[in-house]
Amino acid sequence: MILWYDFPMKKKIKVGLIGLGTVGSGVFKTLRNFDYIEVSKIAVRDINKPRNIEGLDKSLLTDNPYDVVNDPEIDIVAELIGGLDPAYDLITTAMKNGKHIVTANKELLAKRGEELFSTADEYNRVILYEAAIAGGIPLIMPIKTILAGNKINKIEAIVNGTTNYILTKMDVQGASYEDVLKEAQQLGYAEADPTGDVEGFDAAYKIATLSTITFKKRIKIEKIYREGITKIRSQDMKAANDLGYKIKLIASGKIDENGKADVRVHPMLVSKKSTLAHIDYVTNAVSLTGHPVGSITLSGPGAGEFPTASSVVGDILAISAELGTSDYILPMMRCRHAENADMTDISETENKYYMSINAKNAMGVIGKIGNICADNNISLASIVQKCVSDDNTADITVITEIANEKAMQNAVKLIEQDGNKVNSLIRVQV
Ligand SMILES: NC(=O)c1ccc[n+]([C@@H]2O[C@H](COP(=O)([O-])OP(=O)(O)OC[C@H]3O[C@@H](n4cnc5c(N)ncnc54)[C@H](OP(=O)(O)O)[C@@H]3O)[C@@H](O)[C@H]2O)c1
Repeated sequence: MILWYDFPMKKKIKVGLIGLGTVGSGVFKTLRNFDYIEVSKIAVRDINKPRNIEGLDKSLLTDNPYDVVNDPEIDIVAELIGGLDPAYDLITTAMKNGKHIVTANKELLAKRGEELFSTADEYNRVILYEAAIAGGIPLIMPIKTILAGNKINKIEAIVNGTTNYILTKMDVQGASYEDVLKEAQQLGYAEADPTGDVEGFDAAYKIATLSTITFKKRIKIEKIYREGITKIRSQDMKAANDLGYKIKLIASGKIDENGKADVRVHPMLVSKKSTLAHIDYVTNAVSLTGHPVGSITLSGPGAGEFPTASSVVGDILAISAELGTSDYILPMMRCRHAENADMTDISETENKYYMSINAKNAMGVIGKIGNICADNNISLASIVQKCVSDDNTADITVITEIANEKAMQNAVKLIEQDGNKVNSLIRVQV
């Protein structure tokens, strides 16, 4: 067998896999290329399930994941089952038993990362999680190593392939959210219950961990403002295009000079001139801005068997290369962000807005909308009225200058009290 990479190891490194689904299968197949790594046990839910893995030695399989974490021979455990339970207890038990951890589990990291990293510290173990944020895109390792000399104060990212696929299709086909979702479900790009993706939970888990390591302060998942894509209409897509924008689900994070963080997930109009506007379908991208590097964007496949395996295997090899060399391996990759970030509430933020209003076709309606905005300290960058419909209403599209969120929400309320319907309010990239 021709090996991809031959590392001079005194003894084989034993790896235990928990999970042999999409990611686990890719990891198992890729690890076969490294003769100094031995996958010595694999936990699955159903041992008898047919698996598309040529030559899989069924004797490696167990349906008890504790067989993996309690095996004294295993050096590294890769947790690839997802969810909170039993993943949390399995990882904790494995660390207490002296194993280092690789995981792809974004939900677990976002919700219980603090406890896991403190257990890792206590037992002098490392937890690597490159696959958890944007599948195959190298992010964690670059941020923690080669970008370590930077003060990164801004992240803007597309980290959910399902929603990016839906928004791209809506844009390209002029189709409705509901129709595209159905199609995405048939093609396997969206789950039967798409809530985790379309309501922005998945992106929120990822930006929680990504902003924690980038800003070096713990960002609590419950403090992240989250809004999904279910209310985006094909009319908004068209209007955004006409104004020079695309609509994307953006996970973003900013930290100011006083250490106050603003972390959120919501749809956003992004200028067609920006890199993120051109990230389509299931591709993911993360833009980081800081000093001294300036702005960089990393993009690539955010999910899938082999792209995700690339990150998991990279983590396994990084740990393997250090095992036996020191009592304190991979110091730069450890998480020590115990201090919680002070977080800005969405109501205090300043944004530009796109607003789509269905208004009565009456004299002075545009003037009234303008007055309500002015009364709330909101300046308008543009206001455009489209043709009048049969019901004698007209669609009015507004783009504001930078305004306060609370003031904007108040203006929406007043515009509606005046007999109009605000169909959409979407923030605009600044
Ligand atoms: N799919 C991706 O592209 C992707 C990308 C980035 C991150 N991730 C993350 O990677 C993790 C795995 O995702 P996946 O897509 O590979 O999931 P998946 O295809 O559903 O596979 C899950 C695997 O875990 C096994 N499993 C589940 N519960 C178990 C238990 N209690 N004990 C033992 N084994 C158990 C299943 O066994 P059976 O095979 O017997 O059912 C299956 O092999 C998740 O945290 C996910 O968020 C996935």
